[in-house]
Amino acid sequence: MKLIARGLNANRRWFMKNALACAGAASAGTRLLADDHNDNGNNRRLSKGDAALLRFAAAAEILEADFWIQYNELGGIQDDEVPGGSGIPAYTAALSNLDADFAQYIHDNTDDEITHFTFLNAYLMSKGAAPANLDQFRTLTGSTATGSSGKPRLTNLMQLTLDTSWWTRYRSSANNPDLDPNFVFPQAVPGLASGQFTAIPRTNADLAPADHLQAIANTAAFHMPTIEQGGNSLYPSMAQRASSVEVLRILISIGPTETMHFQTWSDKAGNAVSTPLAPLTDSTNGLTFPDLNSPPFDTETFQTNLIMPEPCPFLSRSLPACSIIRPTETKGIAMGVVNFLTAMGLFIGQVPAFFELLKDLAAEADAAKRDG
Ligand SMILES: [Fe+2]
Repeated sequence: MKLIARGLNANRRWFMKNALACAGAASAGTRLLADDHNDNGNNRRLSKGDAALLRFAAAAEILEADFWIQYNELGGIQDDEVPGGSGIPAYTAALSNLDADFAQYIHDNTDDEITHFTFLNAYLMSKGAAPANLDQFRTLTGSTATGSSGKPRLTNLMQLTLDTSWWTRYRSSANNPDLDPNFVFPQAVPGLASGQFTAIPRTNADLAPADHLQAIANTAAFHMPTIEQGGNSLYPSMAQRASSVEVLRILISIGPTETMHFQTWSDKAGNAVSTPLAPLTDSTNGLTFPDLNSPPFDTETFQTNLIMPEPCPFLSRSLPACSIIRPTETKGIAMGVVNFLTAMGLFIGQVPAFFELLKDLAAEADAAKRDG
């Protein structure tokens, strides 16, 4: 309980009190659940490091679920699996211009994230460890457009600044951020990297003109893979420091679902920067989505259907190129994710205690060391 030793403010005390209360409530079922984890001694208590890795993952999944729920309320499929909201037909139609199955994919991605944090927290509690709990920070006002549930939110989808350099990072055969930390990968949509843009209709006023609404849908189409490529790197990066084989199994079983999301959304983002939708300029703010299949964009770096990872140097340039997830450097990965999400504007409006808690969770995860 390093957090307590450091001296907690009221918010962090609230978190630990509630987290531990949850753990206590679950303790009656701990033995039964633990007995089910019957693989080579992995039914023992978690190490402090393993618990921290899973707790940070759970917090990240809670945050993901929060914004995916917002997307689902407005542009997905509202049903028993992912309840809330009633949809915005014009926004859903703009998303369907990118892919006819867009609403289904939003729904299924949302469902996945909900199960990720629910499982991770249940697993932590089954081992007598504290879960992640961010409920006290559900205070942000989200979209007030017709179709939103109006529930208070953890995350803000309405002031995003997106780093779309993952696009060229995964198309590069020459550079890997783990080997070339100072290499600057070009942006796919430079406009999204400077300024603040909404990925959802903030109010009904955002439903027109048509180029504005399509630009909002396109922003969502780039936000989705931008987030998921982060999860794509987070899990293999953390897995390298898991001590228990069962914790390793959890991390390498959830991580690839983020990869499945990433590649799916990469393909949808490609449709925002291809004909017939591209080029497109939002007449209200000048945000432009170029056609990346036309000059001056060279095909190797920008071609929209190159959604498989290009093989690149891995571990050492003396070894052959390999098609891989990148980056996967483990040192400081959790704090890197917090900084990445913060810089994106996803937490604009949150209080200082929220950032303190996230940084504490990240620092504890980054301190985890693999036994043996
Ligand atoms: Fe997830």
